[in-house]
Amino acid sequence: MSKIIIFDTTLRDGEQSPGASLDHKEKLQIARQLSNLNIDVMEAGFPITSEGDFKSVSSIAKEIRDVSICALARAVDKDIDCAAKALKSAESPRIHVFLATSEIHRKHKLIKAKEEIIKTAVRGVKRAKKYVDNVEFSPEDASRTEPDFLVEVLEAVIEAGARTVNIPDTVGYAIPEQYAALIKNLKDNVKNINDAVISVHCHNDLGLAVANSLAAVKAGATQVECTINGIGERAGNASLEEIVMALKTRKDFFRHTTGIKTKEIVATSKIVSGLTGLRIQRNKAIVGENAFAHESGVHQDGVLKESTTYEIMKPEEIGLPKTNIVLGKLSGRHAFKRRVKALGYELPDEEFEQTFSQFKLLADKKKDIYDQDIEALIQNEKSEVPHIYELESISINCAPVPTASIRLRIGKDKIVADSAKGDGSIDAIFKTVDLLTGIKGTLLDYNVRSVTSGKDALGEASVDVEVKGNTYKGRAVSTDTIEASANAYLNAINKVAIKHRKKKTN
Ligand code: KIV
Ligand code: ZN
Repeated sequence: MSKIIIFDTTLRDGEQSPGASLDHKEKLQIARQLSNLNIDVMEAGFPITSEGDFKSVSSIAKEIRDVSICALARAVDKDIDCAAKALKSAESPRIHVFLATSEIHRKHKLIKAKEEIIKTAVRGVKRAKKYVDNVEFSPEDASRTEPDFLVEVLEAVIEAGARTVNIPDTVGYAIPEQYAALIKNLKDNVKNINDAVISVHCHNDLGLAVANSLAAVKAGATQVECTINGIGERAGNASLEEIVMALKTRKDFFRHTTGIKTKEIVATSKIVSGLTGLRIQRNKAIVGENAFAHESGVHQDGVLKESTTYEIMKPEEIGLPKTNIVLGKLSGRHAFKRRVKALGYELPDEEFEQTFSQFKLLADKKKDIYDQDIEALIQNEKSEVPHIYELESISINCAPVPTASIRLRIGKDKIVADSAKGDGSIDAIFKTVDLLTGIKGTLLDYNVRSVTSGKDALGEASVDVEVKGNTYKGRAVSTDTIEASANAYLNAINKVAIKHRKKKTN
């Protein structure tokens, strides 16, 4: 059985998901967990695109060991130089150069003839080789590229030193049989193909990303590019947990292994979902809430008698705790620490203490505290946004016109108070915050969900607020949804205030 290389691109393609954006601290947290998961290659970002991306790739390259750290670059000198600079401290750096090859992209996006594409690709790979030995090349939109031209491009870039050639199904157009045939064609016709690893990178526009990746593996690809929870551009990328568990569960068919520590899958999935704000659909394979739930009596009976009757995987294999041990008022620091660790978090002392005091406050209001509650508290505490404006108190009067009265703390000592009317109590709260902060936000999206069940459940509020053409996300939890909503809005407004403050000091 040979090993399939797992290339995770959660922090690059995954972060391109509409609605997901991670700050520096959050990216590092995910990188640490991906390393616990034991992936082989971590695509940490696209350094030329922003200062933030450059900084994240550099920090990940400095800290994470035992995983090859990869940075993306177009086949353009400045991109490649920037990627190399960001990877300077990496133990095992990889530069991933890409250039579109399909006719549609050549004609309409690049306005380049075939010969020029080959020349640019080769030049890009050679430039990357000046910095690192481990160079990957991706012909973007490979699945819609003329097969003969693809063969030519790959031969040229392998000759130029590419160690991995990746075959992206950029727009999720491929069908498993056809994609497998494409891989086979490359194996049969690219003369120097044995000098490179064949990689696959599938998007999920037709819901076929995992099926296409697995078909390609069966046809001879030995690296799979994927993301946690399948997040990514548009409908997402192939989901890491689905690929890994399919290879593991059906090793009789695939005859391959991976180095993934599958017991870390649930913790990784939760961290990615919590930090990106991209919720997992209940019925998602492997990590959805319902993935191991048996509703029908016949199934329950079967599973109790013999789990393999209706379960093809054991929940423990992916790190799903056997029991959701409930904590409460009487649980001490030690039990709380153990639970936090079991959920996959390592909190520095100060953060742990703050989360523990939040846990104690919550335990006074709520009898049973579940894992989801603890995760919500941790993520609340982990927010990097300094509290310029902090909620002191809030009261709502619903009749005759909904009115919110709010006291805010500004910085350490200043307290301001005001009230405003609105179309409803939430509208009144947001209007009062605008009045008190002088920042006028337009609410684009507002959601409240219950973190667990029960009347005393913790509520999580999230908002998307637009200020001067930029969108800011805010999130907060509380047993009181009014308070959670006010704090979520303030979380977004604090991001605006910080940005303005930075601008003034620069
Ligand atoms: O989907 C795609 O083509 C990509 C490339 C940059 C590999 O993400
Ligand atoms: Zn992609």
